[in-house]
Amino acid sequence: MDGWAREGLVRRRVRVMVTLLVIASPAASGPTAGAQPEIPTPGPLAEPRPLRQVGAPADLTRAAIPPDNRQTPQKIALGEKLFFDGRLSADGTVACGTCHDPARAFTDGKRVSIGIGGRAGQRNAPTILNALYNKTQFWDGRVTTLEEQAALPIVNPVEMGQPSLNAAVARIAAIREYQDAFQEVFGGRPNGPDLLRAIASYERTQLSFDSPFDHFIAGDASAIDGAAKRGWELFNTRGRCNKCHALTDAERDVTNFTDHDFHNIGIGIIRHNVVALARQAEQLINSGDPAAIDRAAVQTEMSALGRFLITKKESDIASFKSPNLRNVLVTAPYFHDGSQETLWDVVDHYNKGDGLQNPYLDEDIQPLALTEDDIDDLVAFLASLTSGDYRERAVKELARQRAVSRTTRPQRDTARAFDPKPPRAPLPHP
Ligand code: HEC
Ligand code: HEC
Repeated sequence: MDGWAREGLVRRRVRVMVTLLVIASPAASGPTAGAQPEIPTPGPLAEPRPLRQVGAPADLTRAAIPPDNRQTPQKIALGEKLFFDGRLSADGTVACGTCHDPARAFTDGKRVSIGIGGRAGQRNAPTILNALYNKTQFWDGRVTTLEEQAALPIVNPVEMGQPSLNAAVARIAAIREYQDAFQEVFGGRPNGPDLLRAIASYERTQLSFDSPFDHFIAGDASAIDGAAKRGWELFNTRGRCNKCHALTDAERDVTNFTDHDFHNIGIGIIRHNVVALARQAEQLINSGDPAAIDRAAVQTEMSALGRFLITKKESDIASFKSPNLRNVLVTAPYFHDGSQETLWDVVDHYNKGDGLQNPYLDEDIQPLALTEDDIDDLVAFLASLTSGDYRERAVKELARQRAVSRTTRPQRDTARAFDPKPPRAPLPHP
């Protein structure tokens, strides 16, 4: 029987309670200020997803549940409620769901995210779908667990803007329904660590497989078309994508499409003087204060330093996490800074081996000599990684991106794509 559904009866009772909470919450229904987006209503796409999906790795899913935060239907329902409750933010208007909207595959569709007071950050919101499998969280991997992760947006001044986690707890601790729910789930009053546990526990129900590609791998040869099949070949051969979007490049990886590692692939580095920024960042990194590093990553130009902000290693300058590629078609725009609009732009970037003047560029980035047909095939493969839950959205989004790509291809540089690999730029030693 399905794990989270086992206690279905209890869950239904909890859901009635949660529905009452939503109605009682002014933030969920009230007006929103200026350019600030509204908190989405959690519809069917916000529901915990079945453990059994074609392509879902049962062993990895089990291993992703920490022993000190086991899943229960009541805890998951409490976490879902908190995820969509604006009252956790300083002015009551921003929830996790504002930037991680289930209808948009838990992203916001914006280049960079907008938090309280319409304030913009520096980074593109990744999806929380399959985040339970991440070895580290955030584009620079600055924390490892979903519990640690959830604490940071609550106190980030351009996200949810609370002065402290306890200030967020205080906002909900006076609400009777939350008192009852925390009592039932954790046996005590609302508090920070339990609030983070509940949110993380909800996020761990968001596994997303069952894509056409998964059906193809499971043996249905007609689940994807010829273009996607050719794209899958290219991904593992001439396209060199498997160098970073696979657990090892020796064996084909059909699960999470990431090496869980960090690489400089030449995004954003041209726009920033990273050497000067790295010098500026040293003191901050030495402080080791997670909230301060979070502010630097989300709010300042130091964002461009990527993994360096965590490790202080020169080779990590402007390195970012290889993201899981599942549902990538419906999570545009792309890269940590949301700088690319379409998957065609992403593949154009790789095709020219962008970053000639970038001394920290990963060795696996080089001109690929992909033809226009090859590029279309790679995009078809990436599109085939969309979960069945987002099928309709995927059809529309692919049509939109294709239309854009027929008129604008800002990253296309066919001459460079067919050039030999350029010599490596020397390290400047900041
Ligand atoms: C204002 C928009 C905003 C809000 C509100 C927000 N996030 Fe995010 N989230 C982001 C952005 C942007 C990133 C990437 C930041 C980075 O990597 O430095 C992110 C990253 C994440 C990640 C890491 C995913 C990965 O693949 O590395 C998770 C998980 C996550 N958020 C969950 C949450 C939770 C839980 C909340 C509420 C407590 C929340 N977010 C609130 C915008 C937001
Ligand atoms: C050297 C390692 C490396 C190689 C090779 C590589 N990638 Fe990536 N990929 C990354 C990293 C790191 C990021 C995030 C970079 C950033 O945001 O600055 C990324 C981001 C992406 C994204 C954007 C995802 C999102 O959610 O924004 C897509 C799509 C993608 N890669 C597809 C591909 C394809 C297709 C190929 C082969 C043509 C490829 N990658 C080759 C490491 C790599």
